[in-house]
Amino acid sequence: MSSVTDSAPPKAAIPPADAPRRMLHFHVLRHDPQDPVSIPHFEVFELEEAPGMTLFIALNEIREQLDPSLAFDFVCRAGICGSCGMVVNGRPGLACRTLTQDLPAEISLAPLPAFELIADLSVNTGKWMRGMSERLETWVHSLGQEVDLARLEERMDPELADRIYELDRCIECGCCVAACGTARMREDFVGAVGLNKIARFALDPRDQRTDQDFYELVGNDDGVFGCMTLLGCHDVCPKQLPLQTQIAYLRRKMVKAGLY
Ligand code: SF4
Ligand code: F3S
Ligand code: FES
Repeated sequence: MSSVTDSAPPKAAIPPADAPRRMLHFHVLRHDPQDPVSIPHFEVFELEEAPGMTLFIALNEIREQLDPSLAFDFVCRAGICGSCGMVVNGRPGLACRTLTQDLPAEISLAPLPAFELIADLSVNTGKWMRGMSERLETWVHSLGQEVDLARLEERMDPELADRIYELDRCIECGCCVAACGTARMREDFVGAVGLNKIARFALDPRDQRTDQDFYELVGNDDGVFGCMTLLGCHDVCPKQLPLQTQIAYLRRKMVKAGLY
């Protein structure tokens, strides 16, 4: 099973020292929903590009040098925490993993849609993810009230452990939800992130839930039936999770169990 080593910073080709530097124009969607007089609008910031510049670096420079009120989120700067998702030139992605050299000089930045807007580029993905996780009960369910420690410690086939680990690499960044037409239309749709989690727990032999239990959680229009196979999720996932395969896996599992 392949695993993607994506916590390292993106690699930048080093331009010659005397290469002329581009002036970048960042068209940033500004809005403060808490301010009754705030009207969503684009504001343009100009910055000179530096070698190896990421959107994380650029936004920090804008905040330090041009506008301290600009709101955006970062924690890890390494593609691990999932907090810096935003729409970059129309495509959801992680700002800390996006090099400006891979973008044109005109760069538009907007907050991820489908999530509660905090301000400017900052959205509340945590609230959405917590709600989805509670609805889908995204934790290992043991039989009865008592946790069967012996079962939790049982050896797992390494290949199966790899498959589960692969799906556990989701960082809950919300890019797949922002790229999904269904999620934009149905606010209770659990998105590819939710379906990926159900596929993960359905694989886990320590989870005692049955196919029927999983069907009751996602066998509806807010789950697998709502997915119209638009595949935006698969295209934008910064962890390259096999989302299309997981959604197909859940469908096949339900068909096999006569539930679909
Ligand atoms: Fe982000 Fe991919 Fe997880 Fe969706 S599945 S939240 S895009 S890491
Ligand atoms: Fe949405 Fe992905 Fe399905 S984009 S419709 S969850 S295939
Ligand atoms: Fe953590 Fe970008 S800052 S993923």
